[in-house]
Amino acid sequence: MGRADKVILAYSGGVDTSVCIPYLKEEWGVKEVITLAADLGQGDELGPIQKKALDSGASESLVIDGKERFVTDYAFPSIQANALYESRYPLSTALARPMIAKMLVEAAEKYGADAVAHGCTGKGNDQVRFDVGIAALNPSLKVLAPAREWGMSREETIAYGEKFGIPSPVKKSSPFSIDRNLLGRSIEAGPLEDPMVEPPEEIFAMTQAIADTPNEPDYVEIGFEQGIPVSLDGRALGPIALITELNDRVGGHGIGRIDMVENRVVGIKSREIYEAPALLVLIQAHRDLESLTLTADVTQYKQTIEQTYTNLVYQGLWYSPLKTALDAFVKQTQERVSGVVRVKLFKGSASIVGRRSDLSIYSPDLATYTADDQFDHKAAEGFIYIWGLPTRVWAEKTR
Ligand code: ARG
Repeated sequence: MGRADKVILAYSGGVDTSVCIPYLKEEWGVKEVITLAADLGQGDELGPIQKKALDSGASESLVIDGKERFVTDYAFPSIQANALYESRYPLSTALARPMIAKMLVEAAEKYGADAVAHGCTGKGNDQVRFDVGIAALNPSLKVLAPAREWGMSREETIAYGEKFGIPSPVKKSSPFSIDRNLLGRSIEAGPLEDPMVEPPEEIFAMTQAIADTPNEPDYVEIGFEQGIPVSLDGRALGPIALITELNDRVGGHGIGRIDMVENRVVGIKSREIYEAPALLVLIQAHRDLESLTLTADVTQYKQTIEQTYTNLVYQGLWYSPLKTALDAFVKQTQERVSGVVRVKLFKGSASIVGRRSDLSIYSPDLATYTADDQFDHKAAEGFIYIWGLPTRVWAEKTR
């Protein structure tokens, strides 16, 4: 008896996921492996990937375009929640995993598979996100993770693959481990494992080195409707076009790099380099528009919600009851977060230099220091008396 009959395998075209195909069949008695390559804008050519899967023994090789759903259903809600893990990482990789989990489960249901599989190792966050995501979407499916169990070194993996006609990588493989999609790139391993080592310029692909950025600033006006970015400089754009164009414009000014040591779910600290130009600027601009359109108490309370939300997403709990409840809170707060934010892009930094909204609750009549001032200054005195009363009483009793 094998571990499963028919398996949908999350497939990237790399050696490790390719080796999973014969491994599942030979070692774990799986009768049929169907691969699924999710196109989330990683920029790989998907035609060759399809052939590779079939050559490695897959019975069928699916390539599914998930870009629009990825941005609309995962990135946009995360922007509404201003989600930055440990105040810095905009979850560009983390958001892709629940999307892929959903695509795997949908394929398993469509093709009558009894299990899904992925090529994650046992040290990362992604295995947690896949396993928990899949369990939440369809708890009757088995999850197989061969690379978590096989215990082969890189060389052994390549040698195992060669036995089944999987070609070993032609060029000397890069020391870096890179994950990429439309939202960003995550780069780790190799020399970066020393947190003191400066990231070499060649690892970056979405952001310019400051030395090569224009000497004139660029200004971009980002339009939001109910917390969702919908236009650049007054031009309405669909989700994919908006992210793509903004990545280029922002990245061209050297904006969007992050270098951090982060705390993984499995307890390990890891040094990670990120590029996420559009996503970072969208969160910055969105938060700014909220400052114009939300009340003080909602703005401040939302920050605690945002932190919990971000941790849930990072930790693989996208499909969880608490996350669903927080989604409802965030969605409710976004009703009036519509308007335009003006961002200046220059030499590695994005600065918000203006914002406007028809739904603004900023009141010039109250804020102004000119003769137009409508604020009742005399009312301040009584307010301060009552506001400070407990402190005054305390001081009188204790001095
Ligand atoms: N640490 C990030 C996360 O957990 C990214 C991991 C992606 N993998 C990589 N090869 N860099 O979301």
